Amino acid sequence: MERLGTLEVKNLSKKFRSRNDELTVLNDINLTVQPGEFISIIGSSGCGKTTFLRLVVGLEKGYEGEILLDGQRLNGPSLKRGVVFQDHRLLPWLSIEKNVGMGLKDAKSDESRKAIQEHLELVGLKGFEKHYPHQLSGGMSQRAAIARALVNRPGILLLDEPLGALDALTRMYMHQELERIWKQEKITMIMITHDVDEAIVLSDKIVVMSSRPGTIKKIIPVPLARPRDRASYDFVKIKEEVLEEFQLHTEHPFTYTI
Ligand SMILES: Nc1ncnc2c1ncn2[C@@H]1O[C@H](COP(=O)(O)OP(=O)(O)O)[C@@H](O)[C@H]1O
Ligand SMILES: [Mg+2]
Repeated sequence: MERLGTLEVKNLSKKFRSRNDELTVLNDINLTVQPGEFISIIGSSGCGKTTFLRLVVGLEKGYEGEILLDGQRLNGPSLKRGVVFQDHRLLPWLSIEKNVGMGLKDAKSDESRKAIQEHLELVGLKGFEKHYPHQLSGGMSQRAAIARALVNRPGILLLDEPLGALDALTRMYMHQELERIWKQEKITMIMITHDVDEAIVLSDKIVVMSSRPGTIKKIIPVPLARPRDRASYDFVKIKEEVLEEFQLHTEHPFTYTI
């Protein structure tokens, strides 16, 4: 099956209305993501990252502007877009293979069984088919969530802080794994993260958002060879560039008058 995955977002704005109030959450977002690109979105809490992702997935309606996937306007949620949230959202009463098969139309067909098996292998969960979510670690649960999101072979995978709940070491291991899966599947990925290192390790481009209303402040390319060395000069330079957008570079705290 053909896997495309060009996302075009044009002049996207989103307002939430309550009885006597209106909140502009996203304002004039323009972004093009090419097939197979890895994009990270960074921004402070509440700047509209999840809202953006929900709009792209088709879970949120009522917006201005255009969201096109492979040239087509969105019309509600679709299997062409996979999504992984911070909490894995596996159903505790279903085995891992049944959880992964949940999004398939006919999970019992030979084709579906093969797809489930292939994707469990892809995320490194071969042998855990009959396990239940409570028997898996946090990292393994997120792997299962990734398998479930990919089993329909979507054109694009959207990840909302997928590693946010994992400990630092598991997280670094999952960075390698996400990179491997992304390469193997040649899929467009858009990941929301709070972690600047994570964004630089994985992304072709980092989209920095500012808040109230959420807009794109800067798009920072990451032209480093993979796998990336967190201690390299170029890595640290890009990190500084990203942190500067949040005014997190160190300023001189004191002025001396000698
Ligand atoms: N369904 C909703 N109704 C009203 N306000 C909402 C809704 N969803 C999100 N918001 C508001 O939109 C803003 C952005 O939220 P969100 O997209 O979750 O931000 P982020 O993921 O960047 O932390 C917040 O101020 C939030 O309170
Ligand atoms: Mg969020």
